[in-house]
Amino acid sequence: MKIINLQKRLGAFNLDIENLELESGCIHGFMGDNGSGKTTAAKLIAGILKPDKGEIQYGGLTPRDITMILQKPYMLHTTVYENLIYPLKIRRIKPDDTEIDNLLKEFELFDKKRQYARTLSSGEQQKLAFLRAVIFKPKLVIVDETLSNLSGKSLELSEDIILKSKNITWIIVSHQPNIISNLCDNIHFFSNGRIIESGKKEKVLFNSDDPTVKAYMKKQAFEITR
Ligand SMILES: Nc1ncnc2c1ncn2[C@@H]1O[C@H](COP(=O)(O)OP(=O)(O)O)[C@@H](O)[C@H]1O
Ligand SMILES: [Mg+2]
Repeated sequence: MKIINLQKRLGAFNLDIENLELESGCIHGFMGDNGSGKTTAAKLIAGILKPDKGEIQYGGLTPRDITMILQKPYMLHTTVYENLIYPLKIRRIKPDDTEIDNLLKEFELFDKKRQYARTLSSGEQQKLAFLRAVIFKPKLVIVDETLSNLSGKSLELSEDIILKSKNITWIIVSHQPNIISNLCDNIHFFSNGRIIESGKKEKVLFNSDDPTVKAYMKKQAFEITR
């Protein structure tokens, strides 16, 4: 996937990505301070926002193949189960109920299968949003800060799903270097609406020559957990 001269203005904010290549089948990290433009870029890629200028070349992917997990996930006014199978329903895929029950059990949501989804805690809603996004086997998944709100076993399970997935391109948006470090192959660092560094994880996180990136890493008092 390729982004060329992408521009979007939101109020006083300007996103301007001259050139970004996102290799398919890789796990990409969007990193950078609050307000640097990560979510805006992610929404443009997901097709939720329309660019003012520029182009996104999807390399064969269609909107059907792409999904984005929003920072504040949208829960349909129905049960946990109905929320989970919704992407299958709209694509006319019959849900495999055994597989679904196992997934719910793994993520400790099985007891809440018939519960009204909007009564879940915010962490549980994030888990459900994550499962709902992966259930239809998309080809590009954009995860906006979702993992930052998960902890313990749920975070590990989600990270496992991401790491073990084949033929899926991931964009993980996070301000937390340890989540990015655990998962990502390539990192794209945002600052004031621009990508100031883009490259392999080892380079961007540990060997950057860019003063803004270096200062950010230092400020985060970065601890790698795995
Ligand atoms: N609809 C909007 N109207 C005006 N400003 C917006 C709008 N959406 C986002 N912004 C501003 O754009 C900037 C970038 O936002 P965002 O992409 O969400 O940053 P990040 O995800 O990196 O924290 C922020 O300063 C935000 O306040
Ligand atoms: Mg954001």
